[in-house]
Amino acid sequence: MSATEAGALDDTPPRKRVIVGVTGGIAAYKACALVRSFAEAGHNVQVIPTQSALQFVGAATFEALSGNPVHIGVFENVHEVPHVRLGQEADLVVVAPATADVLARAAHGRADDLLTATLLTARCPVLFAPAMHTEMWEHPATVDNVGTLRGRGALVMEPAAGRLTGEDTGPGRLPEPDEIFGLGSMLLERADALPRDLVGCRVVVSAGGTREPLDPVRFLGNRSSGKQGYAVARLAVQRGASVTLITGPTGGLTDPAGAEMIRVSTAEEMRAAVRKHSDNADVVIMAAAVADFRPASIAESKIKKGADEPDTIPLVRNIDILAETVQRRDEGELPATRVIVGFAAETGDEHGDVLTHARSKLERKGCELLVVNAVGEGKAFEVDSNMGWILSRDGAEKALPLGSKNLMASRILDAVSGLLYAG
Ligand code: CTP
Repeated sequence: MSATEAGALDDTPPRKRVIVGVTGGIAAYKACALVRSFAEAGHNVQVIPTQSALQFVGAATFEALSGNPVHIGVFENVHEVPHVRLGQEADLVVVAPATADVLARAAHGRADDLLTATLLTARCPVLFAPAMHTEMWEHPATVDNVGTLRGRGALVMEPAAGRLTGEDTGPGRLPEPDEIFGLGSMLLERADALPRDLVGCRVVVSAGGTREPLDPVRFLGNRSSGKQGYAVARLAVQRGASVTLITGPTGGLTDPAGAEMIRVSTAEEMRAAVRKHSDNADVVIMAAAVADFRPASIAESKIKKGADEPDTIPLVRNIDILAETVQRRDEGELPATRVIVGFAAETGDEHGDVLTHARSKLERKGCELLVVNAVGEGKAFEVDSNMGWILSRDGAEKALPLGSKNLMASRILDAVSGLLYAG
């Protein structure tokens, strides 16, 4: 008997039942990547397209990708009562793309095909990823339907902005499949629903590492991938906040749908962007790995080996943006700002363990919350999962068990929201 059969060493996440509803929009082809991601993550995926979705992608494609038969009507396989059973047994229902029509039918409790019947019987988390033309998304009917669904606890994503079918651009694009998959997986991990508690809040998030140029081709950088900061921005959008994400270069992460993106490269550029955008921010979250030092001067041409090569490269210290933001707030320059969050990546050393260093960093920086990650080989950097602690000024310390960076982001925002609404 293997260790896994004995139940001793099996740490793979349990296989969940995921329903992917696909409705009739041109973005239906992107649902294929989503189905594949859930299947590759080991889940039992059942695709339920609408009749019009099958105008765009054939049932055979969904069957091959999910490994399960595809049905669309309530009168197929009636003896198995699929219109009730599928919803009842599901751990997650994701509708992607969700057209204005399916949002309307779901909001009104219609059950005229297998997908809407399933939505009525599902008691698990439900995620809608809308895709439609901007006019449809902004129409008062759709706005009301989205409000109704959110009020009932469904997570209706903000659509991405950009090129739509034809010549149009604007909000209404389907969020990228990796973003939908990440949020869906987070809903499976997080036992409770994601609250929509940041409506009306302005949140500024920094992410990624900075690059400090030495010459036109070289820079001093670090291993930050930006994934944790992007996840915080993404989750803040989904909780209703208006989010500005100030990011260093990240190597192609998907922009969180619905966030305002500000791209910077150096610590000085990041500082200028944080100063500019934190003016009316209720919350500032500094997840970026900002370089502590930069070269004192930048060579105009490439530094060459040989007689002219420098023996050493002098560095000067960068301003601590987090500490500066706390100071500006404490001096009354940022009257709206109520919660400032810092991050600390610690290894522990002969002077103390990870938490000892983190506690003194929280004290030094003066922020309300400090998110602490233990770093080292295979931990925190460039990976999709994370673990750590949230320390707060009042001395509370909460452990964050190993989970996805989206889950960690949702827990960080739980703590932020706790402080915002503490009175
Ligand atoms: N930070 C910042 N501006 C800097 C440097 C860091 O805003 N110039 C912020 C980061 O965004 C993060 C926190 O400060 O929120 C990290 O603290 P920091 O003291 O930079 O961590 P380390 O560099 O790891 O510090 P130390 O070397 O003292 O451990």
